[in-house]
Amino acid sequence: MNQRRFLHIVFASTSGHTEYVVDALIDSLKSIAQGWEIKETMAEKTQPQDLLSGDVLLLASATWNTGSIEGQLNPHMWVLLHDKAKTLDLAGKPCACIGLGDHRYFYTARAADHLQHYVTAHHGRLIVPVLKIIDEPYGQEEALRVWGKQLVDASKPADRC
Ligand SMILES: Cc1cc2nc3c(=O)[nH]c(=O)nc-3n(C[C@H](O)[C@H](O)[C@H](O)COP(=O)(O)O)c2cc1C
Repeated sequence: MNQRRFLHIVFASTSGHTEYVVDALIDSLKSIAQGWEIKETMAEKTQPQDLLSGDVLLLASATWNTGSIEGQLNPHMWVLLHDKAKTLDLAGKPCACIGLGDHRYFYTARAADHLQHYVTAHHGRLIVPVLKIIDEPYGQEEALRVWGKQLVDASKPADRC
């Protein structure tokens, strides 16, 4: 039985892969997490305080060569986390992260590590291991569904102490 929760997804996507992943996850959550309220916001339209809204925060970004260095966050996610929200205190907020990438790059899907680092450095609480989606996300819906189930189980209020 699912308790009603509010999941806020903040994502950045340049060629549409991360957006596809977020939409596929939301699709599977419709059956796994019936009754949940889910809101998705693009990083470039997100203000620091928005990261505090909802019961659970999910950050999703692909890996880019932001600042001409490979292995970085998407530029919009970088600006949000390391400029606009650089002093934000997540104050124990339950969080989850998805990072995308391509196996042909040395720092494959390193965005996931950057997101995890932001959450822990800003006192958020990671409730599931970060998910890395490597290469095109099409056909990886089952991995998303399995991870989504983990996220739902970890989001139950009884698990928050
Ligand atoms: C210019 C450029 C730089 C990239 N740098 C990396 C990288 O350092 N590491 C990695 O794993 N993937 C890298 N990628 C691959 C993207 O992360 C991957 O295509 C991702 O699925 C794109 O997601 P998006 O469309 O949501 O932005 C790069 C892609 C491009 C075009």
